[in-house]
Amino acid sequence: MDVTIIGCGYVGLVTGVCLAHTGHTVRGVEKDAKKLKMLLSGECPIFEPGLHDLLRETQQSGQITFTDNVKSAVKDAEVVYLCVGTPPKADGTVDMSFLEGAGKEVCDALAELNTEFLTTIVVKSTVPAGTNRKLHNFLKQQTKANVAVVSNPEFLKEGTAVADCLRPDRIVIGGESPEAFRMMRRLYDTLVEQEENFITMNWESAELTKYAANSMLAARISFMNEMTILCEHYGADVEDIRKGIGSDSRIGPAFLRAGCGYGGSCFPKDVAAMEHISKHAGYDNLFVNAIQTVNKNQKKRFVDKIQEKLGRPIKDATIAVWGLAFKADTDDIRESSAIDVITYLLERGASVKAHDYKGMDNMKQLFGDKVEWCADPVTAAAGADAVALCTDWPQYTTLPFRKISATMNMPIIFDGRNCLNRDVMRENGFQYYPIGRPPVEQHLRLKQRV
Ligand SMILES: NC(=O)c1ccc[n+]([C@@H]2O[C@H](COP(=O)([O-])OP(=O)(O)OC[C@H]3O[C@@H](n4cnc5c(N)ncnc54)[C@H](O)[C@@H]3O)[C@@H](O)[C@H]2O)c1
Repeated sequence: MDVTIIGCGYVGLVTGVCLAHTGHTVRGVEKDAKKLKMLLSGECPIFEPGLHDLLRETQQSGQITFTDNVKSAVKDAEVVYLCVGTPPKADGTVDMSFLEGAGKEVCDALAELNTEFLTTIVVKSTVPAGTNRKLHNFLKQQTKANVAVVSNPEFLKEGTAVADCLRPDRIVIGGESPEAFRMMRRLYDTLVEQEENFITMNWESAELTKYAANSMLAARISFMNEMTILCEHYGADVEDIRKGIGSDSRIGPAFLRAGCGYGGSCFPKDVAAMEHISKHAGYDNLFVNAIQTVNKNQKKRFVDKIQEKLGRPIKDATIAVWGLAFKADTDDIRESSAIDVITYLLERGASVKAHDYKGMDNMKQLFGDKVEWCADPVTAAAGADAVALCTDWPQYTTLPFRKISATMNMPIIFDGRNCLNRDVMRENGFQYYPIGRPPVEQHLRLKQRV
């Protein structure tokens, strides 16, 4: 089928490349000149495992092309995806300006089309309940073209986005046009393994499904983060509890890992949006309020613990922050816990040396020369009074810890992702503070600070 993607960011590019890989003809429209230039020259503007290879393959075969011209891109399209950002505004409401802008451009382009065939507009962006219906009514007023709007919320996870897109747990389509539903079913034919995983519903249910999914996942993480307080008080191990409850088939094991708070472009924004749409509906959503409070506190508690256990004043201490991306396998730092951790550390007078495998350039734009940027984690730790690990990059688990311990001013590691091995920490002479797990506290041969 002929498909146009408006907005080639994380969601749009992955969707476009995967649809091209499954045999559709895809045109991607991107307004950011720098990103478009990269795409046109075969470069991938984001880091996402497997994406670059698929991009190269589909571009070379001509299955996917890129442009900044909406009009030419939608001319032959049967399906037009809107994949633009819907970031949070300062008051927690959703900034709809990119979606409105893209919708208007598509509408103007469609108005010039002279065909009775249906064009399906697919809203992949995460939007408040009621948005798709409004867009449908708006398009019906603005154009005589035969269009139908469907909501198709995206559930991909950065870091595994390509696999998530090619093997989705389910595909949710919201709308009211049977013809558009059939078109979407045909478009996703190779991705639907079981018929019950292609789920159709009305617009509002699809929109709320996305917010409900992310709020539920954020709640599970926050519940476990809250458990860490009890664990630390009573000497329990949150990892044992995770296994103990995750093996219950009614609960399941996913999204139960405690840490120094969740981040990313989706959970914080979607939980905040849930709070706002609840207010709009006239009630105070106590549940989502609690999720946000717990997450905010968890990031601060992590730095409080660093301050408490450091064994010297935090003012003028040097802390190495390992991991800046909001999770491993991505360069995305949006709402990453490391942003809060570095901010708190700097506010309390510490110096920060930072390292990440992919997210360093993005983080430099936020902190500039307030932070010392290090090419590798060993250099970051050298001379530091402690390491604060904020992202679970697997590479951090296999570092030369003996050497690191010898070159640190004080060998202390605060593991905000519970990803290091406590025996390895003990054997290499570290004080080790995971989250909600018993620490390793052993005699430190503290070096004299100069
Ligand atoms: N990133 C995720 O993991 C994820 C997962 C699920 C859902 N979502 C949702 O998907 C949507 C997109 O998220 P994202 O992370 O891909 O955003 P993004 O910021 O990475 O990408 C959006 C892209 O759209 C482009 N753009 C904006 N207006 C345009 C226009 N008029 N024409 C052409 N291009 C335009 C921007 O330049 C940008 O490249 C958001 O609503 C988000 O909440 C994101």
